[in-house]
Amino acid sequence: MSAHSLFPADFLWGAATSAYQIEGSPLADGAGPSIWHEFAHTPGRVHHNETGDVACDHYHRYRDDVALMRELGLNAYRFSVSWSRVLPQGRGPVNRRGLNFYERLVDALLEQGVQPMLTLYHWDLPAALDRLGGWLNPDSAHWFADYARILFRALDDRVKLWVTLNEPWVVVDGGYLHGVLAPGQRNPYAAPIAAHHLLRAHAAAVQAYRAEGRHQIGLVVNLEPKYPATETVEDLNATMRADADFNRHYLDPVFLGSYPPELADIFGAAWPTFPDADLDFIRQPLDFLGINYYSRQVVRHDPGAWPLAVAKVRQDRQTHTGLDWEVYPQGLTDILQWVASRYGALPLYITENGAAFYDPPQAEGEVDDPLRRRYLRDHLCAALAARQNGVNLRGYFAWSLLDNFEWAYGYSQRFGLIHVDYATQQRTFKASARFYAEVIRSHGGVLFTDGAGM
Ligand code: FCB
Repeated sequence: MSAHSLFPADFLWGAATSAYQIEGSPLADGAGPSIWHEFAHTPGRVHHNETGDVACDHYHRYRDDVALMRELGLNAYRFSVSWSRVLPQGRGPVNRRGLNFYERLVDALLEQGVQPMLTLYHWDLPAALDRLGGWLNPDSAHWFADYARILFRALDDRVKLWVTLNEPWVVVDGGYLHGVLAPGQRNPYAAPIAAHHLLRAHAAAVQAYRAEGRHQIGLVVNLEPKYPATETVEDLNATMRADADFNRHYLDPVFLGSYPPELADIFGAAWPTFPDADLDFIRQPLDFLGINYYSRQVVRHDPGAWPLAVAKVRQDRQTHTGLDWEVYPQGLTDILQWVASRYGALPLYITENGAAFYDPPQAEGEVDDPLRRRYLRDHLCAALAARQNGVNLRGYFAWSLLDNFEWAYGYSQRFGLIHVDYATQQRTFKASARFYAEVIRSHGGVLFTDGAGM
């Protein structure tokens, strides 16, 4: 492996988090409740009824956490802003104390040479807006653009990478179709409409950015390559449906100006006719695309599975994470190349990638996590392979900097490079964090010399 085929000097090496998952103190300093605050406080919604009330207490410990980033050698950090800290009612008067928290965080990052990537929406809609219909209300696009504009005006002098939405598929599938995530609706009629308004909101924020901002704005989607279990027509069609629902539902409108035709079959009578003008509007040019990659899916036709008629075929011979997600690094190369070939050569970032594994109790101030370390190594090699095949990949963000509140799974799943003892809030580097620091320091070189412990 020659030096020039490794990662370039300006490659972004980061870790990612989101507001509700790490901050704690969700109502501090005048903040309003979000749908996640209310969902977690509804008995039976989250594992062990856990909440983000304390989480990693990052709201108070952000300076220490930034120091840990520095210690790892990260040159970038992806975080999200809690909309209801800045606008307690989702619109109307700005809560300066909420906004100040993010200004202080950004300043702390810049002081340490860590470039911020700011996500405007990572699932925590202000509860006041949900009472007005949330993403089902067509006005949501304007609410979002107005909120985004406040952040652009406050922080575009310091933040150079902006993300509108994190993973619209999850917002819709978990929040409106299956009801397992906030706001907990299970309604096939709601899902396509929420998806459409999310895309309009994304576009409205991008348009607002073009008027106000001087740097770069993009979208973050989670992608999962779909492979047919067999070559039968049924399984091939099921794979197309799964791919349309998961991967193309959001990217086709944004880059190609149309919805995948399979969606009308999947949703049947619940699929509305959307105005052409909306589809033109949604197709705003982007500066980059962020891709969250965790796993793949091997697909078979299953007429009993609502509403996609698709089932996952578990690959029993492969390693699976704590969430039973198959570890499949090749899928990362495949999906990056697919994006580049289908949507063009725009800059790409891997904005999340990581694994939940059971971590053994810490001994002597270290947490040994060989499976996560291996996951990291193999996925970085897969990312490098895509780069070598011409993909314009500019950075990698591990999910996650810290163990944190994993949505409906509460604190039962640990994704962190850094272990968090929730009783004491003590942070401890895992072996994967030390390994990542070595990768960064060597621009990837260590990926090829490190066979040990794998
Ligand atoms: C992604 C989310 C992130 C985290 C990881 C494990 O879908 O964006 O917040 O929950 O999964």
